[in-house]
Amino acid sequence: MEHFLQFLKDEIESVKKSNRYRFLREISSKPDRFITVNGKRVLNLCSNNYLGLAGHPKLIEAEINTAKEFGAGSTGSRLISGTTSLHLELERRVALLKKTEKAIIFNTGYMANLGVLYALIGSNDAIFSDELNHASIIDASRLSRGKVFVYRHNDMEHLETLLKSGKNFNKKIVVTDSVFSMDGDIAKLPDIVFLAGKYSGIVMTDDAHATGVLGENGGGSGEYFRLSDKIHIQMGTFGKALGTFGAYIAGCKELIDFLINKSRPLIYTTALPPGILGATIAAIDIVSSEEGKRRRRLLMLKSDKLRKLLNDSAIDTFGSKTQIIPIFVGDEKVAMMLTSKLLENGIFVQGIRPPTVAPGKCRLRVSMTIPTDIDNNSE
Ligand SMILES: Cc1ncc(COP(=O)(O)O)c(C=O)c1O
Repeated sequence: MEHFLQFLKDEIESVKKSNRYRFLREISSKPDRFITVNGKRVLNLCSNNYLGLAGHPKLIEAEINTAKEFGAGSTGSRLISGTTSLHLELERRVALLKKTEKAIIFNTGYMANLGVLYALIGSNDAIFSDELNHASIIDASRLSRGKVFVYRHNDMEHLETLLKSGKNFNKKIVVTDSVFSMDGDIAKLPDIVFLAGKYSGIVMTDDAHATGVLGENGGGSGEYFRLSDKIHIQMGTFGKALGTFGAYIAGCKELIDFLINKSRPLIYTTALPPGILGATIAAIDIVSSEEGKRRRRLLMLKSDKLRKLLNDSAIDTFGSKTQIIPIFVGDEKVAMMLTSKLLENGIFVQGIRPPTVAPGKCRLRVSMTIPTDIDNNSE
């Protein structure tokens, strides 16, 4: 036990020395633009509740009502006793939103990325992955037995060079975040679709930060680029703009059937509870309605305004084009000092450090959100 304790203490000490020590902050209010952090009311600039839906009365009511009707838990994994009519209804609604034949729910986006790449990619296959892809894609690539080629961020020439050198692999999959989680820029999907087609590859997008936000109806990057039918695997999450929890994979019916049979993170885990499913269906209702369009417009207006203000003051925002607006800082210590100072002054924004971003590229990651009550938008 003493050795174990010493190991833990040494590890924590070394994280502290490199200014990468992390700790938890307590939030004690409903999600909205203003929240209570460590007992203090602050402006929330670091939530993924982009459309303000997490505290929406319709979602909360749906969550309560579905829990009353279907219970607090799903009682089993999807293949045993955990598939309720709510799971199937939500999957139909996701497929409609994404304009795909079918969809399947995963418990988290992390598990969805693991669940696809691990099931699909074997030792004769290759993954072509943008260097700024989310950690869950990196971990999924490691877990798969395929060869991993990492291309420079959004660099299509580099992607093509790698595709050429890997052309003899059996399956080739190009996988990219569509909206990059720490930079807020958008993947060059038309070029990626073209290049993947040229080298007989499969395209997979991670729409975690695009679902509900991009596209006329909030369908994400496929709708935004009018490429829904050219992206073979579309992953996305419910825990961000949709305001709830969970994730999905959307695609053709054979893909979904394959995952139901082969994807371990889908098969060997308890299915999502009914309340979350009810709330997520209510969120999709809003996202595809006039109210959803208004929310998206307002979010983009506010994001553009802030980005312009920062850029006019010569502050680097890393090519952000969306609601995620990084503010370049560079050094770990400065990023964390700014985070604490801003919190003291009533603004909650997180400094982002390695390993989440590359050394020297620390930043404040501002994510814009709109209030739950958009008609009371004075703040
Ligand atoms: C791009 C991206 N993919 C996947 C995930 C994982 O999703 P989840 O939080 O549902 O596990 C996240 C964030 O958490 C993300 O930012």
